[in-house]
Amino acid sequence: MSRKITHCILKKMKKKGEKIAAITSYNYLSTRLIDDVGIDFILVGDSLGMVELGYENTLPVTMEEVIHHLKAVTRAKPNAFVVGDMPFMSYQASVGDAIRNAGRLVKEGGAEGVKLEGGMRNADAIKGIVRASIPVVGHLGLTPQSLLQFGGYKIQGKDSFSVKRLLKDAKCLEDAGCCSIVIEGVPWEVAKEITEAVSIPTIGIGAGIYCDGQILVIQDMLGIYEKPLPRFVKMYDQIGERIKKAVAGYIKEVKDGTFPELKHSYSVEKKEKGKGRNESSRNAP
Ligand code: KIV
Repeated sequence: MSRKITHCILKKMKKKGEKIAAITSYNYLSTRLIDDVGIDFILVGDSLGMVELGYENTLPVTMEEVIHHLKAVTRAKPNAFVVGDMPFMSYQASVGDAIRNAGRLVKEGGAEGVKLEGGMRNADAIKGIVRASIPVVGHLGLTPQSLLQFGGYKIQGKDSFSVKRLLKDAKCLEDAGCCSIVIEGVPWEVAKEITEAVSIPTIGIGAGIYCDGQILVIQDMLGIYEKPLPRFVKMYDQIGERIKKAVAGYIKEVKDGTFPELKHSYSVEKKEKGKGRNESSRNAP
């Protein structure tokens, strides 16, 4: 039987040099599958806006949408540590908002921790959430909710000023009580420096090999998402193509009458034959 992963276990993994495997998930079935093979950390990310809901970016995602997907994930009762993402404008306006909304992700969605983007500017919000006994995951670097401010999805930490600020932010997140930090879209050298500077685990995405763990969006790594992918994504399969092939095969067989075959059909019991009984239920024995 697999152990239940908590943020404390993730910290111990960093200490032991054991890498953390994280992935996003947004529904019950995927969660069952990825948990079965031993994923450590599941993020119900606001990336759900793009990969599940068809938005252009993460900005329109609401608390209700995150909670809806979080509930589906936590219904699968995964052993992995489950983190709910705080959507844009659920924590920026006030510390009170941040605490109340983090509380909703735990109370209504079943999250075991929450993630929010940004460094020292969120220190008070993070301290407030931690005071409410909710584990917080920070998120630094190419933070997608700052898309408008960055003027696009741009790699961060490319000059010495920005590197210094990232390091300061990372220390500040640790001091504010974060249990781990996602580092996205920064040079590997910078992610390495941050990882060595803090005692909490760093989970990288587009941040090189020296982070304490890695995270990918599940649709990206399975090859389901159809838009161009950043270079940091490794596609472990081409499931999108396989889905298309399977469904095209089904369409063809329905159209040419080769599906269903007799073995996919029910028949009237021999002794009933000729009595005119009809059976149509999907669950009929
Ligand atoms: O929303 C998300 O999926 C994320 C990960 C990419 C880290 O924030």
